[in-house]
Amino acid sequence: MQKRTFLKYMLSGAVATAGLLSGRGAWAKKYAIALNKLPALNDVGGSVTIKLGGRHVLLVRLSQTEYRAFEGLCTHQSCPVSYVKKQISCECHGSHFDLNGKVKSGPATRPLATIPVKVQGDKLIVGE
Ligand code: FES
Repeated sequence: MQKRTFLKYMLSGAVATAGLLSGRGAWAKKYAIALNKLPALNDVGGSVTIKLGGRHVLLVRLSQTEYRAFEGLCTHQSCPVSYVKKQISCECHGSHFDLNGKVKSGPATRPLATIPVKVQGDKLIVGE
């Protein structure tokens, strides 16, 4: 079993910035997180699950400049998901998702929600 990294990220280490309410769901709020607070993302292929606004968020570093963020709980029965071998996996019942959140294999049938993420200076901006 791969060691799962779980970091409870307190907002004291992050600066939460209210975004415009876009009506596009729960991620209408932006979180700016200093990258040096996320050492698991130092290397390409790194990942970490954090809590933002009380929700689990899986962050994955895909390249030197590209990151992805996903809802961190499986759409089947809400077990934590993790990044393993270039896909998102759920250990509870074996669902797998691609890096766009699409179901590759079930039992999950609904896609994993993706969350907008970008680098801005030395911070990762998560949310819209
Ligand atoms: S909770 Fe993830 S596959 Fe069942």
